[in-house]
Amino acid sequence: MPLVTTTELFKKAYEGKFAIGAFNVNNMEIVQGIIEAAKAENSGVILQASAGARKYASAEFLKALVEAAEKESSLPIALHLDHGDSFEICKQCIDDGFTSVMIDGSSLPIEENIALTKKVVEYAHSKGVVVEAELGKLAGVEDDVKVDAADATYTDPDDAVRFVKETNVDSLAIAIGTSHGAYKFSGDAKLDFERLEVISNKLPGFPLVLHGASSVPAELVDLCNKYGGNIPGAKGVPEEMLSKAAEYGVCKINVDTDLRLAMTAAIRKVFNENPAEFDPRKYLGPGRQAIKEIVQHKIKNVFRCSNSAK
Ligand code: G3H
Ligand code: 13P
Ligand code: ZN
Repeated sequence: MPLVTTTELFKKAYEGKFAIGAFNVNNMEIVQGIIEAAKAENSGVILQASAGARKYASAEFLKALVEAAEKESSLPIALHLDHGDSFEICKQCIDDGFTSVMIDGSSLPIEENIALTKKVVEYAHSKGVVVEAELGKLAGVEDDVKVDAADATYTDPDDAVRFVKETNVDSLAIAIGTSHGAYKFSGDAKLDFERLEVISNKLPGFPLVLHGASSVPAELVDLCNKYGGNIPGAKGVPEEMLSKAAEYGVCKINVDTDLRLAMTAAIRKVFNENPAEFDPRKYLGPGRQAIKEIVQHKIKNVFRCSNSAK
């Protein structure tokens, strides 16, 4: 099956009250680890490339890796641009064969965000590609841009309705308390479920997206720290909150940080146990296996999208 858009995946997810995992990819081992997990769970999956990923690996290499994954697995896989910040980058990815793009105008005033999103939607739809936009502002670090918690703004439900209506966008990332990176909460983890429910009720049938949704499992942080890391105080979104969000119209859940932690912990372990190791396969292999394990856990137990490939 060729690469798919997210339309069918989201339709099933919305109806079944589960979410499709969207995982950031930067190299071959990450793509392979995610696909092994998706295969084991017979799940559709979204592989997404940030600006940093495209700078590191290039869009061509990432696309070729994702196409190889699709050929080898026959799963429904969407190739998505994560946090596109201009019409030009969205257009380039659409022209290059991405099946979904995000235009992130969340830092702009709403009128400008609407105008920019509308322009991307018109071009994307003319090429059969779907568009995710963002309204509201998440805290945290993404692509070297740091938004302080004080500058984060939750999504206004009425603005969300207006935004979707005026842009004709296919999905919308909303801000309800998640944030990018490993440090999401200084105190107790809290998401604004009341706000999510209101937004979801006002947009029936419409797929919502959660960014900044890594759970930052304590055991992974401990593993990283045990083998020489130094990431004290990291705290993510509890898994049960993500499962609950999926019941309120959240059809796409973005995860990057947890994959980084899992891969890094596995690689650190190899070097800790054998500092003389110098065959990349001996440390990237365990890194890939760790990605598979965490992605499979999320697909099966957290997002509950096992067998969504049917
Ligand atoms: O939302 C951001 C993702 O974690 C991508 O991170 O821009 O460092 O590749 P990156
Ligand atoms: P995390 O940093 O929580 O993994 O979020 C990733 C993300 O939102 C990618 O767009
Ligand atoms: Zn994001």
